[in-house]
Amino acid sequence: MPPAPYTSRKLYWRVFREASPYGWHLFGILLIGLLATPFTLLTPLPLAIVADSVLGEQPLPAWLQALLPAAIVGSREAILGVAAGMVVALAGLGKLRGLLGALLTTYTAAQLVLNFRARLFRHAQRLSLAYHDTRGSYDTVYRVQHDAPAIQWIAIDGVIPFITSAVTLISMLSVTLHIHRGLALVALGVAPLLYGLSRLYSRRLRSGWRGAKKLESAAFAVVQEVLNAVRVVKAFGQEDREQERFVRQASQSLAAKLRLAWSEGLLNLLLALTTATGTAAVLFLGARLVQRGELSLGELLLILGYLAQLYKPLESMSQKVASLQSSLASAERAFALLDEAPEVVELLHARPLHRARGAVSFEHVSFSYDGARPVLREISFHIPAGARVGIAGSTGAGKTTLISLLMRFYDPSSGRILLDGVNIRRYKLRDLRNQFAIVLQEPVLFSASIAENIAYARPNAPHEAIVAAARAANAHDFIRALPEGYATAVGERGMRLSGGERQRISLARAFLKDAPILILDEPTSAVDVTTEATIMEALERLMVGRTTFMIAHRLSTLERCTIRLELANGQLVQAGEARGKAHDHAAA
Ligand code: UTP
Ligand code: MG
Repeated sequence: MPPAPYTSRKLYWRVFREASPYGWHLFGILLIGLLATPFTLLTPLPLAIVADSVLGEQPLPAWLQALLPAAIVGSREAILGVAAGMVVALAGLGKLRGLLGALLTTYTAAQLVLNFRARLFRHAQRLSLAYHDTRGSYDTVYRVQHDAPAIQWIAIDGVIPFITSAVTLISMLSVTLHIHRGLALVALGVAPLLYGLSRLYSRRLRSGWRGAKKLESAAFAVVQEVLNAVRVVKAFGQEDREQERFVRQASQSLAAKLRLAWSEGLLNLLLALTTATGTAAVLFLGARLVQRGELSLGELLLILGYLAQLYKPLESMSQKVASLQSSLASAERAFALLDEAPEVVELLHARPLHRARGAVSFEHVSFSYDGARPVLREISFHIPAGARVGIAGSTGAGKTTLISLLMRFYDPSSGRILLDGVNIRRYKLRDLRNQFAIVLQEPVLFSASIAENIAYARPNAPHEAIVAAARAANAHDFIRALPEGYATAVGERGMRLSGGERQRISLARAFLKDAPILILDEPTSAVDVTTEATIMEALERLMVGRTTFMIAHRLSTLERCTIRLELANGQLVQAGEARGKAHDHAAA
């Protein structure tokens, strides 16, 4: 997808809205920054006083005469002493100001980024599976980790110095204008050129950065994908090829960054040359004025001193505009993530649902993942509460999709799904999902202890409840045999356990959740016959009193069901009572 069309102004505006809770902090940083101006203005003053009033013959400036006692004004030595004292005092106070500013800046920046990251992460969790499946998870990681800090670079390190520079510039300018209008205007002549240069380059840099970030994120996506599938990579001996894929991606990103560094360096060079030209012009004309006696040497020195200070903010403003482009490109990416609308949304006044009875109906439900190829077509059936539903069908028929729709991972393209006679869209999303306990084909564990994994749905569950659930799932014995028992860490995604062990832990999780509807997506497809028997035995217990949807290929499994749904090519080809154990539940 192309990047969202944000203008710079819109981006700055959004960054400030995002930063608004820290408005006072930012204001403080700005004030401390502005205090720099008086210090910069005063810095060349001691030298000018010494040149004119100690070495030269001129009286002190009127405002300084008013400030100092008459005894000092009358003595050259005393004036020299004051000038020397000023140098030290200015340096000390200036550094103190810098220290305060740095502390406040660091604190605000860290808070700002943390909050923004938290918002991005929350939003990423809300986004539909469809988004994550098409974008890949690393791109989101990159936005949260590397793009989010841009907000700090823009709000604090970009815009605030820009404002303080502008204020410094104006004050420098008014002082210089006061001393000699002509020279000040000559010095200012380079400003339009600086502005034009930074405009020209910023546009180019922004689109460059946009591309570079995309490339870099893609390179690290390779690392993540490979590390997640490291078993497969090793098994097929494809390490070298993956290495090459990473290096190729990373080199592209490197080349893009080099091009950008070159552009930025070139811009800085041109900016420096432009201001140097301005300084040269002032030096040339100023010296002539001194020769003609229209300007004192002290004044020329003062103007040249200010000129360096005048050009500094001008140059840094132009540089800022350019260097901010990287951050703006990042901010664009982070905001694009925030703007991604979750496809499954909760109604404004959604109804709470404590515990459903478990009656489920599909009414003319059709669905397609990509909007083009239909995966489910006109599915209709009714399941009474407490029934056991076996879902059969060849691979790719749409069984998992059917279940995903029921849990509202996606919304149907047409038709509706009812739970206890109410459209599932009307429920609070969290409450709805709370009604399901699922055991998947590929059980997913987190890198935590076994106990924490079992208690995933109820983090505060007492230990006895966890053990009871593990017993019910026939998992207690193997867990107890582990050296650390329930405290055993299962490793990332539970990879330190066998498939069957993981399966039983996810069963225990379902027991502990105690939800009215149970969803089993081929829970025994990955285990041996003995384990299957223990799992099925545990399942029998789990299914009591719950509406159960069981996806299975094996007839033996399906025979435990009271209702049978058979899918082929996304259509329901058979919906009826199971042949094995007839039951008085009717299927429509
Ligand atoms: P399902 O995942 O619903 O099939 O995908 P299934 O019946 O459960 O298959 P098995 O038994 O687990 O193998 C149904 C169709 O939807 C497509 C798949 O390509 C498949 O043709 N699909 C699935 C997508 O297009 N996108 C997805 O994210 C998932
Ligand atoms: Mg499936």
